[in-house]
Amino acid sequence: MNVRLIEARELPEKISIDDVIDSIIHGDCLDVMRRLPSEIVDMVFFDPPYFLQLPKNKRLIRWYVKTVVESPEEHWDMFSSWEEYDRFITDVLREVRRLMKPDATIWAIGTYHNIYRIGKILQDLGFWILNDVIWFKTNPMPNWLNVRFTNATETLIWAVRDKGSKKYIFNHEYAREFSMRDFGSKISLNVWRIPISRGEERLKDENGKRLHPTQKPEELLRRIILVSTNPGDLILDPMSGTGTTGVVARRLRRHFIMIEREERYVRASLKRFHR
Ligand SMILES: C[S@@+](CC[C@H](N)C(=O)[O-])C[C@H]1O[C@@H](n2cnc3c(N)ncnc32)[C@H](O)[C@@H]1O
Repeated sequence: MNVRLIEARELPEKISIDDVIDSIIHGDCLDVMRRLPSEIVDMVFFDPPYFLQLPKNKRLIRWYVKTVVESPEEHWDMFSSWEEYDRFITDVLREVRRLMKPDATIWAIGTYHNIYRIGKILQDLGFWILNDVIWFKTNPMPNWLNVRFTNATETLIWAVRDKGSKKYIFNHEYAREFSMRDFGSKISLNVWRIPISRGEERLKDENGKRLHPTQKPEELLRRIILVSTNPGDLILDPMSGTGTTGVVARRLRRHFIMIEREERYVRASLKRFHR
């Protein structure tokens, strides 16, 4: 079946899985999720705004080439305070949890800016953390000012819906394969070496600039999906940006539901399926 682009406002008050399976929904994730039935998804990839709090209009200049360093200083990354950010993340995660099957897992990703808050909120809502997995970026953007370390990692928190969940999927043979490839290790380590999205994979806008500041690498989603789902499973990405989750899910024969508020990302996601 072809991937569909659906306008949230055209969906019924009570949405069924058939209405939205294998589609990209253009709309607000809270509005859409509240209309979906409970306990329908097997895995969730949760990649919310980072709330970087860069001062408005301030841009970092790479002095050596005098180009602007792109960062997620987009309006979707703006919140008035930590309280507002926490409230937003809490509301979204509460709804996500309701949609998860009892043994479903969630992967939440973030940087030092937001991941600690997300971890606390996950625990407060009753999720049970299984691991953190460190994504080590083999090609990070250097901190040229030398005022702090170059930030070369993002943290993934992998959690089950409830403390008692025992039948969640962990395809450990893949976990071992990733560690062997990254470190020559026979045991499944919680560190993954993956470059940031680049080259052909990186989506560009009409001016040839990066379309999205935080597009995730397909290899990251490939590992997440292989290790924690089986073919035919349903994956939810409530803030899907450029659609990385769905593109990789389809390739690996999993189903997906993606929701994204920004029209330009939704359109680019759809095109991505036909590249
Ligand atoms: C960190 S990015 C996700 C990037 C994505 N994983 C990718 O690979 O391209 C977060 C996304 O959340 C979207 N977003 C923010 N608030 C939203 C909301 N209430 N509903 C749906 N999407 C939202 C933003 O537009 C942004 O594209």
